[in-house]
Amino acid sequence: MTTFTGNRGLQLEEPLIFEQDTPGLSGVDWEEPEPAGDRLGGLARDGAIGLPGFSEPEAIRHYTRLSQKNYGIDSGFYPLGSCTMKHNPRLNEKLARLTGIGDLHPLQPLSTVQGALELIDACAEWLKTLTGMPAVAMSMAAGAQGELCGMMAIRAALEDRGDPRRLVLIPESAHGTNPATAAICGYEVDTIPADGRGRVDLARFKERLGPDVAAIMLTNPNTCGLFENDILDIAELVHQAGAFFYCDGANFNAIVGRVRPGDLGIDCMHINLHKTFSTPHGGGGPGSGPVVLSEPLAPFAPLPYVVSDGDGFRLVEHEGDADGKPIGRLKAFHGQMGMFVRALAYMMSHGSDGLRQVAEDAVLNANYLLACLGDTLSPSFAGPCMHEVLFDDGFLEDTGVTTLDFAKALIDEGFHPMTMYFPLVVHGALLMEPTETESKATLDSFIAAVKGLAERARAGDAEYFTDAPRLTPRRRLDETRAARKPVLRWRPDGADD
Ligand SMILES: Cc1ncc(COP(=O)(O)O)c(C=O)c1O
Repeated sequence: MTTFTGNRGLQLEEPLIFEQDTPGLSGVDWEEPEPAGDRLGGLARDGAIGLPGFSEPEAIRHYTRLSQKNYGIDSGFYPLGSCTMKHNPRLNEKLARLTGIGDLHPLQPLSTVQGALELIDACAEWLKTLTGMPAVAMSMAAGAQGELCGMMAIRAALEDRGDPRRLVLIPESAHGTNPATAAICGYEVDTIPADGRGRVDLARFKERLGPDVAAIMLTNPNTCGLFENDILDIAELVHQAGAFFYCDGANFNAIVGRVRPGDLGIDCMHINLHKTFSTPHGGGGPGSGPVVLSEPLAPFAPLPYVVSDGDGFRLVEHEGDADGKPIGRLKAFHGQMGMFVRALAYMMSHGSDGLRQVAEDAVLNANYLLACLGDTLSPSFAGPCMHEVLFDDGFLEDTGVTTLDFAKALIDEGFHPMTMYFPLVVHGALLMEPTETESKATLDSFIAAVKGLAERARAGDAEYFTDAPRLTPRRRLDETRAARKPVLRWRPDGADD
């Protein structure tokens, strides 16, 4: 057995639990089991099963040390652009675990879950108010599933009017889930390039728009961190062409409380609750991606959904009971209760003015990064930006350092790297999203670290970067090293060339 003294959580290596065991030691004093050999016959085990032997404190220390090696939003600044890693207020966590909420079962009788249904309904009302949309489907388990729901509703609406179409237009800056969703719904995808301002190229968009277009899937603010200035014109053109306007609302956190997507002419938008309403990303299980729908799409909302009448709240679960023409059921039950509780707690504790402030602070923080790093790095587009700021690898030109190397060196400075190589509209993208909860002091220390590294890269110290990270339990994965070596090709005679 290996014994440790002191806090090994701070040290780099943590042996596997199997490398630390004391055979026979156990944290639990089990009663001797009744012999079961007669009943098991030939299946009876005749040797030890090889579980590691540990006392309870040693087992706890092992797992605690492992947990300390994780970098998370609770341990440091996490400027991952597009993915929005934002603080999960503990108040929300506490409420989600309350007895009567944390232990709900989806098959409980309706009379015992009236409060829960009321809560889902209240959350839905907030989302409708904030987006200015008449309907919302709550059950989807992630943004990507919300996209699927929205595009299925669009498809159903087009088929219902006897006008099935084949094409979906998607800007090149879109998240990969957009084209994937359109393709899964049976559509061909046509990519619209970005113009020099990082927005949809309106001229190219007009060229592609025609009677075969079912929808545009546009992200606003887009993944370059920019507001699509032509969005009203785009909406009008889309509707004139008889198509629908799907908005990827992943970046709603930049405009919540300031702009209502319904006022922009949007027909359908998913909301990643983790990005805008601070639920944990994934939440220890599936997340939540409610979809708001315009009047023409509302009848196609999926089952089940919550309705209230004089007798309280109930669920519409079957097509025959629905008012419209539901696209069916996309999830076993009615959504992620824990996420609704957290999101509603966030909305209610902030209030509508507080949510507006959230968006303003998120935008302010991103613009602070742009203002302070604009001279050091290479901003991809002219500012101001929205909630995230995009740089490309121009500042690394001729240094021998890549975006990946730069990001790895940032880990040694104690920061989680920004999003790299996305969006694809620029070369070697570095996309930073500070979120609204970061203090000026945190942003300043990040800025100082980035500036220091940029200076080092330009001073010709490329090896420092290609060797990074040095201070992590594991260094780079082999794939990055392999990418630097000449490619070896296998030949049948056994020799490599
Ligand atoms: C712009 C955009 N669209 C869609 C998604 C997909 O959302 P989810 O990860 O919740 O499925 C993301 C996720 O980060 C995103 O950034």
